[in-house]
Amino acid sequence: MSAYTQPDASGHFGPYGGSFVSETLTHAIDELRAAYARYQNDPEFQAEFRYELAHYVGRPSPVYHAARTSRELGGAQIYLKREDLNHTGAHKINNVIGQAMLARRMGKPRIIAETGAGQHGVATATICARYGLECVVYMGAEDVRRQSPNVYRMKLLGATVVPVDSGSRTLKDALNEAMRDWVANVDHTFYIIGTVAGPHPYPMMVRDFQSVIGQECLAQMPAMLASQGSAAEQPDVVVACVGGGSNAMGIFHPYIPHAGTRLIGVEAAGEGLDSGKHSASLQRGSSGVLHGNRTFILQDENGQITETHSISAGLDYPGVGPEHAWLQDIRRAEYVGITDAEALVAFHHLCRTEGIIPALESSHAFAYAMKLAPSMKPEQSILVNLSGRGDKDIGTVADLSGVDFYDRPSMRGLTVKGGKE
Ligand SMILES: Cc1ncc(COP(=O)(O)O)c(C=O)c1O
Repeated sequence: MSAYTQPDASGHFGPYGGSFVSETLTHAIDELRAAYARYQNDPEFQAEFRYELAHYVGRPSPVYHAARTSRELGGAQIYLKREDLNHTGAHKINNVIGQAMLARRMGKPRIIAETGAGQHGVATATICARYGLECVVYMGAEDVRRQSPNVYRMKLLGATVVPVDSGSRTLKDALNEAMRDWVANVDHTFYIIGTVAGPHPYPMMVRDFQSVIGQECLAQMPAMLASQGSAAEQPDVVVACVGGGSNAMGIFHPYIPHAGTRLIGVEAAGEGLDSGKHSASLQRGSSGVLHGNRTFILQDENGQITETHSISAGLDYPGVGPEHAWLQDIRRAEYVGITDAEALVAFHHLCRTEGIIPALESSHAFAYAMKLAPSMKPEQSILVNLSGRGDKDIGTVADLSGVDFYDRPSMRGLTVKGGKE
């Protein structure tokens, strides 16, 4: 394909993206855009960013060959990009470090953030503790309940966690509240958005900070594939879960020019794509404006945002980053759904077969790889972005798994061969 140079100067990815904000925020957005334009290619800024990723986050994160799973499924080789091994347990910290470094250079002493699964909140609280910045995290009251270990972690790190009781009490409501706070405190507050959404320059900036994931994979995969006897340089397929879409953009973006690699984003299909209880904005949504950008959103005929559902708090969002809407339009990426039940099967499988407790978000990506692998040849490969670890989810999984914690839930079309029962 011809060189991919999205977004344009006004932050548009084709018809998506842009900046739809109230007048009170225009100055703050202009200021942020100017700061990012200044530091984006600044050698000193980039060197500090790389240093932080290496020495505080623990990058590069390894790529791991899920040998038992691959053997049991009998198809493509499955590899995992281990973002769960980052400090704080997910990919979120890559982006938080970049934005917090900008906040410091812009002289903003107060940080606000929204969080769903709590991973972005924990990453933000962590960096604020280290940099000595005040930290306020907005979190839907339902997410406070289902991700309570992360709420406690944020408090330990010195952050104020504000439960949001409006709407469905999940991620979109937390984002609304954070935006309100920003409008009221814009002079001294920096808003660290946790995904590739929001007004320009956030979708581009968060993607750039997260692209370290895909850049490392490009460098790691040739040796990894060669160690398994493959002559291929890069994987046939890259799979990532999509909430707002930051871990997916982070691994997809460096692969966009590699036409031989299919890019597959996995949305939360909840109780089924046709059940009305899901968070599949790209597959069941339509174009509209939400949280400062034009993208695909779940809305009714009057443009009201509809209720979403997912077992996983980090995927439970009625919108998606605008660049994903564009990649879907130009068919460079495909988007599929995984149900709650399928994600749970994959969660248990990864625990029992590979010794990895994954986040429920990441379990969606792994579940799709498990579905796809048997239809591919053993010499082919799938690289899954394992975006986070699952410690925060064990309460949810225990509740959903009923009395016998170790029983596998019903598989609904997903075949898991082998493995000890
Ligand atoms: C581990 C993990 N993966 C994925 C996500 C989804 O976010 P995104 O689509 O921006 O990567 C979250 C969000 O909280 C998360 O905690």
